[in-house]
Amino acid sequence: MKIALIGYGKMGHMIEKIARERGHEIVSIIDIDNREDLKSDAFKSADVAIEFTVPTTAIDNINACFDAGVPVVCGTTGWTKQIEDVKATMTKKNGTLFWSSNYSVGVNIFMAVNKYLAKIMNGFTQYNVEMTEVHHIHKLDAPSGTAITLAEGILENLDRKSNWSKEVEGSSSDIAIKSIREGEVPGIHTIRYESGVDSIEITHDAKSREGFALGAVLAAEFTAGKKGFYTTADMFKF
Ligand SMILES: NC(=O)c1ccc[n+]([C@@H]2O[C@H](COP(=O)([O-])OP(=O)(O)OC[C@H]3O[C@@H](n4cnc5c(N)ncnc54)[C@H](O)[C@@H]3O)[C@@H](O)[C@H]2O)c1
Repeated sequence: MKIALIGYGKMGHMIEKIARERGHEIVSIIDIDNREDLKSDAFKSADVAIEFTVPTTAIDNINACFDAGVPVVCGTTGWTKQIEDVKATMTKKNGTLFWSSNYSVGVNIFMAVNKYLAKIMNGFTQYNVEMTEVHHIHKLDAPSGTAITLAEGILENLDRKSNWSKEVEGSSSDIAIKSIREGEVPGIHTIRYESGVDSIEITHDAKSREGFALGAVLAAEFTAGKKGFYTTADMFKF
């Protein structure tokens, strides 16, 4: 398969390595200094583009992929308040977008367990729930995109919560998400239910970025040749 990379930072480099190991060809690599290549024939020849950049440029890059007729797998976080507008553009331009806040297989298992646990806890109102996420100091967004997806998984299943808030509960119907930035931590997410007598905690702790990069390449293999919007739930089908 022919792959174009948009964003050649930590994730872009890791994705390149894994894509080549899986026998794919990298036909174009775009970063901040050669954005004009989004219009090049090499870019247009890609079966799929993989986009890992920064929140301020992700939407422009996705739109450039729609214009070039190249399906795009996006992993950039911190821009998704506008995802419904992006999906509308995608439909208008007959494009393809795969987006996930987290491509790791382990995190996607964790997300499924999180939803199941919230469903059980719905019947046990003595437990409050909160979340902590820890990432490296270079991360631009907080809370992490993964923490927001996890909070949404709880909100879908736990009737006593209707919103999430940063750091502290704005009201008892909020899930507080605490964000910690330290060292080079690839990503730790903990969800904790607490009552007066005990607590139940689940944690996912990523050991490196490799799990995210492999998942992004698997998503690219899944996406090539398809139209419309997809996410990891469509690929993993737990
Ligand atoms: N979804 C997931 O599984 C997952 C996993 C890890 C990271 N991420 C997210 O992916 C994104 C990138 O992470 P990273 O660790 O590779 O960051 P990074 O800072 O190492 O790399 C970002 C790259 O984007 C480039 N860039 C900046 N502006 C650009 C522009 N206008 N056009 C093209 N390229 C531009 C930068 O030069 C840099 O090379 C972040 O939003 C991060 O939160 C998502």
